[in-house]
Amino acid sequence: MQKWIIGNWKMHKTVAETIEHISALKPLVFRAHSPVWLAVPFTDIYAAAQAALGSHIEIGAQNMSDLLGGALTGEISGVMIKEAGASFVILGHSERRRHFQEDNHNVNRKVKLALRLGLTPIVCIGETAEEKAAGATEQVLSRQLQECLDGVVVDSTITPIIAYEPVWAIGSKQAAPVEIVEKIHHFCHNWIAQLNWQGVSRVVYGGAVSPDNCGDFLKADGVDGLLIGGASLDVRAFTDIVWKAEGIRT
Ligand code: PGA
Repeated sequence: MQKWIIGNWKMHKTVAETIEHISALKPLVFRAHSPVWLAVPFTDIYAAAQAALGSHIEIGAQNMSDLLGGALTGEISGVMIKEAGASFVILGHSERRRHFQEDNHNVNRKVKLALRLGLTPIVCIGETAEEKAAGATEQVLSRQLQECLDGVVVDSTITPIIAYEPVWAIGSKQAAPVEIVEKIHHFCHNWIAQLNWQGVSRVVYGGAVSPDNCGDFLKADGVDGLLIGGASLDVRAFTDIVWKAEGIRT
């Protein structure tokens, strides 16, 4: 099974830094079979896609509008990111939900639009520390899956990827315990299995992933890959994760 290694750069790296980073990363991951994806800032997509040419590194965006175009100052459409070189888009990241008031309904519209445009949506779900403490994790995740994927029809080769990212782990030093991740990934796989999607459903884990802890997650049952924030900004750390995934691939 292949393991998706997906970097989420968040609001980091200029165009010049992007070109330098990808030029350094390219030869280091050249022989890896695992999909290596980088979600970069909008302004870096074109340069990143150009820099990645000739490699299997795929470039994506971290968000997009839920509309195709129009008088929407400051918005970026899926058509634009696709033309710039993106092949996937992260949707509903908890930072978008928290700081920009995005909800499951926005995410649902974006997922449908992304699929229509031929972009692979990575749909982020995850509970907060309070929801976890209240024992509401599965209830919260069910609702996110239900509302984000409502009416989503998958009839092509492009299937959404679900990213389980517990909000309490993101940007912390404390990743979720592997047993919890395994349990939640089974929960998500079972949930998706009811949807009759064509193609394979993939669930990746994100939240404080590092070269030190990635092996445990990559070996865990039902974990199809990793969504990596902080550690994806460093060529060496990210390369280490790619090669750990390569060693675990069956
Ligand atoms: P982190 O971020 O790896 O820095 O915790 C993960 C994410 O937000 O996708």
